[in-house]
Amino acid sequence: MSKLRRPPSLLKRPWFARRILEVGAGHLPYQGVTHVVDKYPENEKNAEGARSGNLWVPPGVEFREGVFEKLPFANHERFDYLYARHVFEHVVDPVAAVREINRLASEGYIETPSPLYEMLCCSFPFSTQDVHFWFVWANPARNELHVVKKNEQTVREFSSSRYGRLTEALTIAKRAHPEQVLDRLLPSASKTTRLFFSGPVRLRVHQNFEEALTKGEDAFASLRHVLFYLRPPVSWLYPRFSPLKAIWRESV
Ligand SMILES: C[S@@+](CC[C@H](N)C(=O)[O-])C[C@H]1O[C@@H](n2cnc3c(N)ncnc32)[C@H](O)[C@@H]1O
Repeated sequence: MSKLRRPPSLLKRPWFARRILEVGAGHLPYQGVTHVVDKYPENEKNAEGARSGNLWVPPGVEFREGVFEKLPFANHERFDYLYARHVFEHVVDPVAAVREINRLASEGYIETPSPLYEMLCCSFPFSTQDVHFWFVWANPARNELHVVKKNEQTVREFSSSRYGRLTEALTIAKRAHPEQVLDRLLPSASKTTRLFFSGPVRLRVHQNFEEALTKGEDAFASLRHVLFYLRPPVSWLYPRFSPLKAIWRESV
């Protein structure tokens, strides 16, 4: 029996939401969705990237094959809420995807891996086989998504940033204990970019991390979040992060 994913917050989804779209729902749609769009209607082995399961459309939910960049709905078919979990980093054209979000919904939730998680999951050096095309972070106060294209230069740039040593230490630890580092050791906010949007989403496309920084847009919050838990007095209050602290200490 397939399951449905619990929404990240029902409080943020308006009580009157009747038409709820999920883009890239894959094997695990959110509870309450009424419409699902996915680029790949086939089973996992034919789909691009790891979906961790075959496409599953719950009974009564309308499925349309299509892409985020050109959603298969007319302007009058707007939605009360839109979910997009771990799909925005896969799009070829994020400008078009954001235009589609704003055309069809004015509230919703977008989640992607954080830039740190992208680094820990991608191959290093960069591989052209990677199906995640973007580093994504958000500025929720401004309803903004920020993206930097993943390529050889930006992957290198991230690992040679001022947080490079921590990234490297985590990469080594992840290779030794993949499940432990990603799923248990890292604080959850350092792994995920989340945007609950209300009103038009704005997108800022940066050439690289340095250029983003010169505009005051910083992709390294996920790393600072990790460091926050590793330094006293916070580290004394959260002993669960002591294995992470040991990884950090060994790398220094
Ligand atoms: C990593 S899976 C995420 C599945 C599910 N949302 C979750 O969080 O577990 C990415 C999903 O997005 C779909 N996908 C990839 N690129 C897409 C695009 N441009 N437009 C729509 N769906 C896309 C894939 O087929 C897959 O089902």
